[in-house]
Amino acid sequence: MNSTLIKRSSALIFVALFSTGPLLLFVGSAHASGTSPYKSTPYQTTRKNAGTPNSSVVKTNSNGVVISYGNSAITYNAPSPALATLGQALFEQNCASCHGTEANGVPANGTSGAYPNLVGLGPATIDFWIESGRMPAADPRSVQASRRVARLNHQQALAVAAWVNSLSPSYPGIPTPNLKIANVADGAALFALNCAACHTIEGDGDALAHSTFAPSLRNIPAFQVVEAIRTGPGNMPRFTGNLSDYQVNDIVKYVTAYIQHPQNPGGFGLGGLGPVAEGFVGLALGVGLLALVGFWVGERQ
Ligand code: HEC
Ligand code: HEC
Repeated sequence: MNSTLIKRSSALIFVALFSTGPLLLFVGSAHASGTSPYKSTPYQTTRKNAGTPNSSVVKTNSNGVVISYGNSAITYNAPSPALATLGQALFEQNCASCHGTEANGVPANGTSGAYPNLVGLGPATIDFWIESGRMPAADPRSVQASRRVARLNHQQALAVAAWVNSLSPSYPGIPTPNLKIANVADGAALFALNCAACHTIEGDGDALAHSTFAPSLRNIPAFQVVEAIRTGPGNMPRFTGNLSDYQVNDIVKYVTAYIQHPQNPGGFGLGGLGPVAEGFVGLALGVGLLALVGFWVGERQ
């Protein structure tokens, strides 16, 4: 076998590496992308006392207190202050033993810093931890509280959130996404970029460092998916200005419509591993076949 042919066949293998694989990767992922996911709507909040929400529609009551804000994608509502009295009673019964009667994280025995301070966390954070069943905590020493059947109902959770919020009003409010206007293809692309690294593209969840984990995203109500994205529970990052309400709405549509009711979106059924895996299988097959052709051409001398 002469050297020209060796050069030619290795060149062939390189062409295979740099064209076939990415091409199949592209084919595999085509179903996941749609029109450009980037829309511009300003939305700013920080975990503590975020100030006035920056959004297109802010409604205040006669005293100038913000009662709702948002836009056509997501509306955020402050829980009714009328629920605060009930909320304080529920907090005494269910939360004060750990978080203290002032919700400042200092229990009755006075150990400061023993539990998280809840003052100024905003209604969506309080509501999320109660409605996802994480609170009241089953085991306060566990590394990460797990989702369970909620101990308080929706109205009771709103009441507790109303009382805690009355101590130091803050944001985000309780979100209501408008999934009718959401774009699931944009949501899939945004999910792949922002969420799949921890939760996997199929939303099944995965282990993280130090015995923590990103949970499965199946059967989570839409408003709680918004709450998680906007408040960043536990080790999850909080997504604020980098994702607009329109983009969050698209992601929630993908999580609730696709992840919770998976349909085969096309491509090959490789155990539902997703477009990247499909691309790699394509790469392996493509390179493998062309390598064989290369060897065959070389052998013919
Ligand atoms: C048995 C003790 C205990 C009880 C009772 C309890 N909590 Fe907690 N709470 C904890 C611990 C411990 C954590 C930290 C857990 C974690 O990060 O996974 C926590 C975390 C939280 C957080 C998250 C704080 C943050 O900074 O993200 C919220 C919100 C919360 N609790 C609200 C409540 C509410 C509301 C109740 C009552 C319905 C309640 N908790 C009852 C122990 C308790
Ligand atoms: C760095 C890893 C990481 C990224 C990125 C991430 N999450 Fe999470 N997510 C977590 C962890 C960890 C938890 C559990 C927090 C806890 O319970 O303490 C979580 C919890 C959740 C929950 C609550 C699930 C339940 O069991 O109640 C939802 C919903 C969620 N994430 C959605 C998302 C979405 C949507 C994105 C992308 C916009 C995202 N996450 C990005 C790590 C991540």
